[in-house]
Amino acid sequence: MSSSQVAIVTGAAMGYQSGGPSIGGANALRLAKDGFVVVVVDEGEMGARTVELIREQGGEATFMRADVATTTGVKQIVEQTQQRYGRLDCLVNGVSRYSPGMAKSVAEIDEAEWDKTMLVNLGSYFKMCKYCIPLMLKSEQATIINISSIGAFNALPDFAVYSVSKAAINALTHSLAVDFAPRIRANAICPGFVRIANSENGRTPAELTIWYADIAKQYPMQRVCEVEEIANVVSFLASPESSFINGQSLVVDGGKLVSDRHEF
Ligand SMILES: NC(=O)c1ccc[n+]([C@@H]2O[C@H](COP(=O)([O-])OP(=O)(O)OC[C@H]3O[C@@H](n4cnc5c(N)ncnc54)[C@H](O)[C@@H]3O)[C@@H](O)[C@H]2O)c1
Repeated sequence: MSSSQVAIVTGAAMGYQSGGPSIGGANALRLAKDGFVVVVVDEGEMGARTVELIREQGGEATFMRADVATTTGVKQIVEQTQQRYGRLDCLVNGVSRYSPGMAKSVAEIDEAEWDKTMLVNLGSYFKMCKYCIPLMLKSEQATIINISSIGAFNALPDFAVYSVSKAAINALTHSLAVDFAPRIRANAICPGFVRIANSENGRTPAELTIWYADIAKQYPMQRVCEVEEIANVVSFLASPESSFINGQSLVVDGGKLVSDRHEF
């Protein structure tokens, strides 16, 4: 059994073309810095890059490549974690799916796109929790952190399935918090827009400057969020510093949800 605490982070590959910032990658790097042995999980090969970066900063990590929307993939991760480390203290769920076909209203989206998105965005969080919890219950105090979105509270036009999946993740988090306390605390993090490498692909530096400036206008902080600002919150929720925080959906959006951008 590992003497260090062990964390699984899903969706933890670095950006798939550039190796640049991703929310899951930043979460994995931060937990490793905090002393966790990190199991980096992703279906993409850039999970290996996250492990390299963790080792460069003196941490310990392993990459398990798997599709966490499948029971087989999830069971493999849990079995390998059990065999290799014998414990699991923290689970951070963070995969999500984007396809042009899912960016539609309820009337327009294909049923297959709806089902596939719910399977990846919500189903993977459910399956990871279901199969990790028995191992986590052996830990004195474990934590589940579900990466959700402010889309759980407000609706982007033509993005219904994403919002529904994120609202359901918050509800899943509430149930986990009630059913598994005091041994496991469960919380969700709801970011607003976060700058990640994958959404920069195909845009020139000049286009990116204009794009980020436009988005920044919607945010009272007048800038976009960096991945480390989500990882800081993950670090806090995974630590005993947050020992009485359970069942929360913590909004990390620089004040966007509570702001009224109306100009008088
Ligand atoms: N970037 C933002 O502005 C933003 C805002 C709010 C919430 N979020 C949430 O943050 C989380 C991370 O997203 P991101 O923005 O870094 O996007 P991303 O596309 O860079 O990361 C998603 C990762 O999940 C992996 N993945 C997808 N399906 C998988 C599967 N079935 N099995 C294994 N891995 C799979 C992808 O390979 C990718 O590495 C998501 O839950 C997303 O909804 C992002």
